[in-house]
Amino acid sequence: MVEIEEYWMINNDFFDVKKEDSLIDLYKRIVLEMQDLGGCDILDYGCGAGLLEYHTRNIYKPNFYLHDINKQILKKAADFLGEYHKVYIYNPEEKRKFHGIIFCLVDVCIKNNQSLIDTYEEIFKLLKKGGKLCIGTTHPCFRDESFHGFETSFTRKEQRFEYFTESLPFKLYYGVDSRSIQFIDHHRSLSFTLNTLLKIGFTLYSIKEIKDTGVSIDSFHSQKSPFILFTLKK
Ligand SMILES: C[S@@+](CC[C@H](N)C(=O)[O-])C[C@H]1O[C@@H](n2cnc3c(N)ncnc32)[C@H](O)[C@@H]1O
Repeated sequence: MVEIEEYWMINNDFFDVKKEDSLIDLYKRIVLEMQDLGGCDILDYGCGAGLLEYHTRNIYKPNFYLHDINKQILKKAADFLGEYHKVYIYNPEEKRKFHGIIFCLVDVCIKNNQSLIDTYEEIFKLLKKGGKLCIGTTHPCFRDESFHGFETSFTRKEQRFEYFTESLPFKLYYGVDSRSIQFIDHHRSLSFTLNTLLKIGFTLYSIKEIKDTGVSIDSFHSQKSPFILFTLKK
């Protein structure tokens, strides 16, 4: 078992190519939101191993720019994806602006509220006028549920689910069968996230609440949502 807060800074292997269905569904929904931008420049901010690009390689092929604080995983992602996509490692010195920015499952990694606000402000500056930001994350209202692929310390009753405690650290247990990987995520309420983004200057384009596409009966929730997807415009 891995249990460390700085998980993302040191881990290279977690995101292997085999992913459970509901996450692939989230990736596909994100690129479908971007598709009307055509073959443009899209920045994947916190790209991890580049699995969004890999799993959507047959439906969307823009110029993907990859960015991650973990430079090892970034290099690995760029090497791995080179076979399927035009991918570039994001270089801030180029002062490039993007038609679209993806921020998938990254908000929960950022511990501090001010750092998250600073990151959203940076993303706002990196977007072209009229550009889109897609944020995919675990649904904040259902973090005390068990879903196909993951559950939390709230689900396991190791911790009280204090919905209105912004930046509340919790454990996420990941893995379809064994749930053998665990790391610390940070919870924020829906209103915190939306109001933060609106205050920065984004306009809300759509919210999608994604259904659990898992197959195992005990963790399948047709009426509760594991992931939420915000699409915003500059
Ligand atoms: C849960 S993984 C998600 C990876 C990928 N977006 C996906 O959905 O498959 C979170 C990633 O965000 C990166 N990350 C965390 N904080 C970041 C930050 N402040 N700036 C850039 N990347 C960050 C981590 O290194 C990690 O690779």
